[in-house]
Amino acid sequence: MEERKVIYSAVQPSGNLTIGNYTGAISNWVRMQDEYDCFYAVADMHAITVRQDPALLRKRTLELVALYIACGIDPEKCALYVQSHVPQHAELCWVLNSIAYVGEMSRMTQFKDKSQKHAENINMGLMDYPVLMAADILLYQTQLVPVGVDQKQHVEIARDLAVRFNNLYGETFRVPEPLILKTGAKICSLQDPSKKMSKSDENLNASIFLTDDRDTVLRKFRRAVTDSENEVRFSEEKPGISNLLGIYAAFRGCTVEQAEKEFAGKGYGEFKSAVGETVADVLAPIQEKQAQLLADKTYLQETLERGAEHAFKAARRTLSKVYRKVGFYRGD
Ligand code: TYM
Repeated sequence: MEERKVIYSAVQPSGNLTIGNYTGAISNWVRMQDEYDCFYAVADMHAITVRQDPALLRKRTLELVALYIACGIDPEKCALYVQSHVPQHAELCWVLNSIAYVGEMSRMTQFKDKSQKHAENINMGLMDYPVLMAADILLYQTQLVPVGVDQKQHVEIARDLAVRFNNLYGETFRVPEPLILKTGAKICSLQDPSKKMSKSDENLNASIFLTDDRDTVLRKFRRAVTDSENEVRFSEEKPGISNLLGIYAAFRGCTVEQAEKEFAGKGYGEFKSAVGETVADVLAPIQEKQAQLLADKTYLQETLERGAEHAFKAARRTLSKVYRKVGFYRGD
């Protein structure tokens, strides 16, 4: 029998999730769970690299677990767990730290961006973020990492570290590949389409949150920045409209070309309402299911225990191999 491919991905519980997190990551995870061995985590250890309110972090962690399930992740089919529940992530990170270079980490785009944004708190964890992410991925002998465009550089570092370790100590890690889809992998801000849509944008009109109700979704799309033409067409010169076409295609499950055809000859007003309605139609049942799940904490906690147990077993296998290879004494 052919071995099933291993998939790993995670989201940080560091704010209100946006539709970018959904189309770039979670919605693709759902499609993969029948075919592959999937590990999906809540990356709480990554989240603390910028200051978090502890009570809020705890709350958001459970909300994210409920959201994964509400979006269609089936905990019977994959390992759904919280990163800090599986100690091997931190342990492997430490070993990888010894082969990761300060120079390469300081050149990472996200590190540079976040250092600017959080100039008062440029901590070691922020710089080490990609090494912890490499540990996440490599622990499970992952082949594919479904992420949005902004995480490609981090998956590449995970590849580099895997190859470097294998060259130094002998074949240990599988070298993972990023999986980035054509639509939905880079959703941009509705107010400034040159920037990615982000959980932490201060302008609340810039992002559609997965918790936004229908009226809010419709209003934000109505206010989305476009251009002075009146032609729904995908083009680099029309970043606002192109972004909306990408969102529509990702939520509709069609291609951008099909979306363009559908709105040929139609005005921006009609187009924006259609995008809003489509997104709101997808979000409503997810929100309802998430609320139901959050009412049953016992179920969520048991699910997480099972997920962590599953992940722990796989992680332990790789970590003991790593400890042996680097020369940690494990008895004669
Ligand atoms: P986070 O929480 O910042 O993002 C989670 C996922 O959402 C994608 N994403 C987007 N996709 C499209 N358009 C956007 N505007 C947009 N914004 C975010 C991200 O690319 C990501 O896939 N560091 C990771 C979390 C992580 C991880 C891992 C991922 C921790 N360990 C191991 C993969 C493998 C992150 O970006 O989180």
